[in-house]
Amino acid sequence: MKVGLLTGGGDCPGLNPVIRGVVRSIHNAGGECLGFINGWKGAINGVTMPLTIENTDDIIGKGGTILGSSRTNPYKEKDRDVPKLLETYKRLGLDALVAIGGDDTLGVASKLYADYKLNTIGCPKTIDNDLSCTDVTFGFDTAINIAMEAVERVRTTVESHRRIGVVETMGRHAGWIACEVAMAVGADYVLLPEIPVNIDDMCKMLLKRREGGKQWGMVIVSEGAKLIGGTDVVTRNATLDAFGHEQLGGIGQLVAQLIQEKTGIETREVVLGHIQRGGSPTAFDRILGTRLGLGAGRLVQEKKFGRMVALAGTKIIDVAIADAVGQMKQVSPDWIQDVYEFSK
Ligand code: F6P
Repeated sequence: MKVGLLTGGGDCPGLNPVIRGVVRSIHNAGGECLGFINGWKGAINGVTMPLTIENTDDIIGKGGTILGSSRTNPYKEKDRDVPKLLETYKRLGLDALVAIGGDDTLGVASKLYADYKLNTIGCPKTIDNDLSCTDVTFGFDTAINIAMEAVERVRTTVESHRRIGVVETMGRHAGWIACEVAMAVGADYVLLPEIPVNIDDMCKMLLKRREGGKQWGMVIVSEGAKLIGGTDVVTRNATLDAFGHEQLGGIGQLVAQLIQEKTGIETREVVLGHIQRGGSPTAFDRILGTRLGLGAGRLVQEKKFGRMVALAGTKIIDVAIADAVGQMKQVSPDWIQDVYEFSK
């Protein structure tokens, strides 16, 4: 049994524990693994590295991915790249391909299974936590804990200066990071992609708190948040990547400017950016990554192709990759209601 692994899309803490888990599971069953370098790019061009017990045993605490990642989409130049990928798979004599990624990477794995019956297995990754059919994605726990700590640091300085701090988080079109961080730090207000915000109402609330004696404020803004009456999402670079995404960023600065203008309170913004994605995974993400990796290895052995491992409660289950992709999991109304109870 020979199994290829790849990690695609934005990197995330927990990828290495998954790789380690798959390798261990396949090795224990008498098989061998190899890794494709830089996501689908490596699979198209046949660029690989050996994955052994020895070179994966000690990577559980390492951030990022030892395989490298890319946002290469084989279906962008389908006629050129998909045949190359299929040829690589055949030439290497693979029995299965484990794709570890988010909606985009797993979307490709799902299509390759549907279109060519390629033996793909999916494993859900993203700090954004926006994949359906799993309770949570690994990487998210690390991201919110890092963001929480960063916001608490911003808090002490805005408190000293009697300012309002605006912290912009990642999350693209799902506000899970912003929502859970806002709840964890007790923020005054949160702006999510799921519900456009009336900036005047928010400023009135911030002024009311100031009049009530609170000498500082904290606002969490998801990078994909929108303002009522404002433009659509704010982009850093509107050029689309191979999966059709623009690079978001800048809403935090806009919100901070508007707060300062409308309330007269000195306001500063901080963009957390890739700090949320870098570094060592939390214990939760190490354990989840390990269990998902072992689960993916088992799916290979059971020949349950076209399936993705997922977390349901405390159990690792499997679902059709096709069911998990293409329908983003946004922040649900019950979460929105709970977080906004603290912004009245
Ligand atoms: O999908 C993960 C993510 O970190 C998003 O939250 C963010 O919008 C995007 O990736 C950033 O991508 P890049 O690493 O290409 O800047």
